[in-house]
Amino acid sequence: MKNLLLVFILTVSTGAFAQKSDPNMGIVPAPVSAKRESGEFKLTPETIIFVDSPDNKAVVFFSNYLKKAGLASSVTDINTIDKNHRNLKNSIVLSLNFKGKLPAEGYELHVTPNNITINGRYSGMFYGIQTLIQLIQKSKSPGYAIVPCATIKDYPRFGYRGMHLDVSRHFFDVDFIKKYLDVMAAYKLNNFHWHLTDDQGWRIEIKKYPKLTEIGSQRAQTKIGRVHGVDSDLYDNTPYGGFYTQEQIAEVVAYATDRYINIVPEIEMPGHSMAALAAYPEMSCDPAKEYKVFENWGDSKEAFCPNDVTFKMLHEILYEVMELFPGKYIHIGGDEVNKDAWKKSDFCRQLIVDQSLRDENGLQSYFISNIEKFVNSQGRSIIGWDEILEGGLAPNATVMSWRGEAGGIAAAQMGHDVIMTPGSGGLYFDHAQSKSTQEPLSIGGNAPLSKTYAYDPVPSSLSKDQQQHIIGVQANLWTEYIATPDKVEYMLLPRMLAMAETGWTQQAGKDYKNFSMQRLPHQLARLEEEGYNYRVPVPEGAKDTTLTGNKFNIDLTPSVEGAKIHYTIDGFTPRETDLEYTTPLQITVPSGKHIDFQAIEITPAGKRSIVSDIKMANDSK
Ligand code: ACM
Repeated sequence: MKNLLLVFILTVSTGAFAQKSDPNMGIVPAPVSAKRESGEFKLTPETIIFVDSPDNKAVVFFSNYLKKAGLASSVTDINTIDKNHRNLKNSIVLSLNFKGKLPAEGYELHVTPNNITINGRYSGMFYGIQTLIQLIQKSKSPGYAIVPCATIKDYPRFGYRGMHLDVSRHFFDVDFIKKYLDVMAAYKLNNFHWHLTDDQGWRIEIKKYPKLTEIGSQRAQTKIGRVHGVDSDLYDNTPYGGFYTQEQIAEVVAYATDRYINIVPEIEMPGHSMAALAAYPEMSCDPAKEYKVFENWGDSKEAFCPNDVTFKMLHEILYEVMELFPGKYIHIGGDEVNKDAWKKSDFCRQLIVDQSLRDENGLQSYFISNIEKFVNSQGRSIIGWDEILEGGLAPNATVMSWRGEAGGIAAAQMGHDVIMTPGSGGLYFDHAQSKSTQEPLSIGGNAPLSKTYAYDPVPSSLSKDQQQHIIGVQANLWTEYIATPDKVEYMLLPRMLAMAETGWTQQAGKDYKNFSMQRLPHQLARLEEEGYNYRVPVPEGAKDTTLTGNKFNIDLTPSVEGAKIHYTIDGFTPRETDLEYTTPLQITVPSGKHIDFQAIEITPAGKRSIVSDIKMANDSK
């Protein structure tokens, strides 16, 4: 209290908050070009949606969206109306058969006070609609909204824009997967990498091998996270399990397809295979051994055996997988293969000799090449983690570079396609979002939003031709330390929006300040309305820091539209009952004293940021 009496706070009323003049009109990911024009379009119950392809998935999606939002939803096939009697006033015209060309997945959106038009084909129309949805400003009165006038031209930088989810370490049900797909679609992501199998659980029904789920989807107990940051040796003594039936998989595939999202299923091999080995030990090099679904994190010491029995079973498993997933890519894992079991195996040692392989790395390559041949024979392609480079890359494989970019660079130099997903680039969303001890338990690391945003997937060390092999970018969400849907959302958002911008927006169009201060607050308010448990970033200007001097200016911008910031300077943790920050402050610290300016942001729904702390010290005597 003594300190407080000596402190002078001055409020400053000019230049309070970020300007609203956002060149990207709040849209995430930022479009190639957006031109704000004067006026606005009023969306009313009388607004008609004219379409030239009424059954198109994007059109159906949009009309369902408007219906749900209580806005106009009358869809009319424009071909049924005589050209001379078309009154396009107060209408939204969705044109898939427009004349002219657009880049792949591109669209044009034009909003005037009279009407809105979107030109786009396939996913291009869907993305034009997503942009329009982001521009719709709902009013308090039902059935009424406005859209600012604008001309937007847009198309993506990369064809592959992915988001991964590990459902093996923890299982997430179909409803949640759909919610995950919804938010991916809203930000123009087009590939869902579904990590369906691992040591800790096999999550996809395979009719020919029912024990994969009967046995492999269940574990007896689960390792308890960490105690004071150190891996514990405690277990929860609670059985855990879950899997998707083939019917459910088909339902999810259809749901994703309706949102122009391809699903890349991952069936891990030859490592990360304990759950499968627990069900079918004959797939190991030592079938007499007992295998059980892993209850711990980290990698098991086991792997599928590269023999005829295993290959036959894996081909049959992959055949069913390919029946369920229509996309080009099947992800076969290939990462972190512990080769101990192969080293101990007489069969493997002989196989290395017979096939003139160099060592167990050569065996890994032999394994992946066998699987690739089968997948290719079915008209599909494999993706593997960058370890599949070890011992020689399978001829047509696409490489997912996760251990930094080196694997991706090597693969691109060899003429292979590459998807960049390096943890070092802030794309591992199981890493913490700040260094604060207030962050929830995570696997470790630090991947703040700014780091995720800054990542550029195209290494400058590659030639222009080689750069063409970087087909896209993806973030990964491993769930060892993420047991609930709420926590998945917390770790995903808002970082996924930053990664989505990297995938879509041209590098020259990226601007972190514009993203984080002008567009993200609007998008987070939207996510809040839609019920996502995103992480509330600390207010801009409030990040933890230590400053010395005697006068300090505090200038904060809320990270979420409509949120309030509360602060203390008395050393107590701020909460909603403390002073509200509404305007910039100047704090004077007397000689020899120090003050902590601690702030918390609380959103309309009551979501809270962590508490930030600006330490201000006046060292003068
Ligand atoms: C990985 O993170 N093991 C691909």
